[in-house]
Amino acid sequence: MSSKLIGPALSRVDGKLKVTGKATYAAEYNPPGMVYAAIVQSTVPRGSVLRMQTTEAEKAPGVLAVLTPRNTPKLAGAEKYMANPIMPRLAAMQDSEVFYNGQPIGVVVADSFERATHAASLVRTFYVEKPASLDIKAGMAGAEPAQGNFGAPPPGHTRGDVTAALAAASTRVDATYITPTETHNPMEPHAAIAVWDDAEHLTLYDANQGVHFVRMFLSQLFGLVPDNVRVISRYVGGGFGCKALPWSHSILSVLAAKAVNRPVKLVLTRQQMFSLVGYRPQTVQKVELAANAQGKLTALRHTGFSETSEKDSFSEPFTNTSNMLYACPNVHTSQKVVRLNAGTPTFMRGPGEAPGTFALESALDELAHSLKLDPLELRRINHADKDPEHNRPWTSKSLLECYRVGAERFGWKKRPLQPRATREGDVLIGSGMATALFPAMRFPCVAVTRVLADGSAVVQCAAADIGTGAYTVFTQVAADALGLPIEKVRMELGDTTLPMGPLAGGSASTASASPAIQSAATQARQQLVKLAIADTGSPLHGLTEQDVLTENGKLVSRKDKSKGETYAQILARKQLPHVEGKADSNPTPPEQQKHSGYAFGAHFVEVRVDEALGTVRISRIVTSMAAGRILNAKTARSQILGGVIFGLGMALTEETLRDPRLGRVMTADLADYHLPVHADVPDIDVHFVEETDPHVNAMGIKGIGEIGATGVAAAVANAVFHATGKRIRELPITLDKLL
Ligand code: MOS
Repeated sequence: MSSKLIGPALSRVDGKLKVTGKATYAAEYNPPGMVYAAIVQSTVPRGSVLRMQTTEAEKAPGVLAVLTPRNTPKLAGAEKYMANPIMPRLAAMQDSEVFYNGQPIGVVVADSFERATHAASLVRTFYVEKPASLDIKAGMAGAEPAQGNFGAPPPGHTRGDVTAALAAASTRVDATYITPTETHNPMEPHAAIAVWDDAEHLTLYDANQGVHFVRMFLSQLFGLVPDNVRVISRYVGGGFGCKALPWSHSILSVLAAKAVNRPVKLVLTRQQMFSLVGYRPQTVQKVELAANAQGKLTALRHTGFSETSEKDSFSEPFTNTSNMLYACPNVHTSQKVVRLNAGTPTFMRGPGEAPGTFALESALDELAHSLKLDPLELRRINHADKDPEHNRPWTSKSLLECYRVGAERFGWKKRPLQPRATREGDVLIGSGMATALFPAMRFPCVAVTRVLADGSAVVQCAAADIGTGAYTVFTQVAADALGLPIEKVRMELGDTTLPMGPLAGGSASTASASPAIQSAATQARQQLVKLAIADTGSPLHGLTEQDVLTENGKLVSRKDKSKGETYAQILARKQLPHVEGKADSNPTPPEQQKHSGYAFGAHFVEVRVDEALGTVRISRIVTSMAAGRILNAKTARSQILGGVIFGLGMALTEETLRDPRLGRVMTADLADYHLPVHADVPDIDVHFVEETDPHVNAMGIKGIGEIGATGVAAAVANAVFHATGKRIRELPITLDKLL
């Protein structure tokens, strides 16, 4: 079989639908009788709602209902849900407690979005206030050990004797790094439309990263049979982790639909994205390193704190990469969480890896400086040839090649070792690098492929395309296995009526679904082969399966390619509406794996810092990545570009600030929360190192959704140090920190 379709730079199969406005996003459905909801948010950080004055809102034009903690319908499954400690706290107005500023405390339903929004502004709320915890540093003394998220083991690892090794070392680094709270800002704000088909059946159009995952939560909360809940999310305008779990607005849309007995649409404003759908928690990280005179690491201790809400146990697992990135005999990592009166934190692109590599890879740079060693050389010296955390081989690892190729494309050799060595007038020029990495994960997945009577195929899997190209690469995989052109394959995603698919999270979607899709498609093709060779009416009758080739929607004889027939002809003669292949792929649990799977890469960054103004401009970036088999050179490059730009935001601009007295997010729009724009981003040279991985999964695929964002902030901070001699250990690197 050819694999002409796997690998090349193909444009998105859904591109035309998107640019013509025909791809339907969650907020764009309009079921009959639909009305609109708007959320009322708390204005105090802690306490309880004493009374809400709703008369004015109720009398406002077009208003159908005003829900408050007093009259909101109860969630049938809430008690069981809340009893499960790994479930995130969802503020669904089941009681009058307030645990953060911005928490939903009311919902107004009206006949238009504008009327609902206006009426929501008329609600007056009186609170009983309580003292709030709003400062991570003040809370560190009372911090609690971090738990694992959603059943994952708690972060932390020990090998060797780090205390003794630190004490014995001649060269040490001991530094504290801080990353701010950050907020996901996908282009498409969250939206949900809830439709009760009857008392037991619910349909939710929802912007999310995995319909089956969202359904699991919803069916539990509402006490419904999972099969009676349908979640539809066909097109998604970016996810980054904030659309992995259902949030309060989705649940409130369902409760409101129940209350008014009509479909209810609830679309968040950009401002509400900053308080209702999670954030990346702030971290305070301490890294201690020690090395011998040759640069070999002898000790690595990485500890610290991340913020969480008063009610949640979510922790940003920033120490995970320190456990395994470098060959070091003495390692200790552990984490604590500080409870604050803030919303529920969640995963944000490279959760753990992005802020964790900022600390670790900055510290490595500091160590290189102390040792007067080239920072790239220091990383080569400490390369881990096997996974030192689990003491097992890698599925594949091409990091040294990423270093080599990246350094060459960047011209790293010409870099002076000393900082402040290059100047053009007022501008100091420097370069820095850092390692990027992300685990190669997989989730269970079922896929169905049908070859239809007209010879085309449909492939079904309830995975998600969050804007990254899943429709396209899955179509490529199926078309390749079926021997069909891309245009003859229709991919269906994002609906719980489709077979169980993975969450588009953990960079695991492509690696989870592609092998299942390939296997289902191969089965469907094999059935066609079997039908043909067993059928006396077929020109292929009597051949063995090996004698039959697939060619552009046709089966042909290997020996005589003029002999053959189309899929449509085979199905027509047999009077079959279709043939179907179905595959269920279940990943090996991590504890049973014999290898450790990670994608690795490296970023090389050049910055220009105006010494008088403190402004940092990125002038060049080279990123080299090795991530197993690359299915589509174009969408893969875009993934890495997006990841690197995400990292630039982390490095230079993004910071969610809360009012220190009221806990309200003060940077709740794109004027105050600064995302990198075109003028901030130079041309990025993305290079994929070829890597064949025989172990990671049947197709040798590692994820690429998040790795691009890891390591970038450290590479920038290291370049800023090289340019200016100033080490910035607190993100973002804004000009005030450089003056
Ligand atoms: Mo990603 S933070 O696993 O959506």
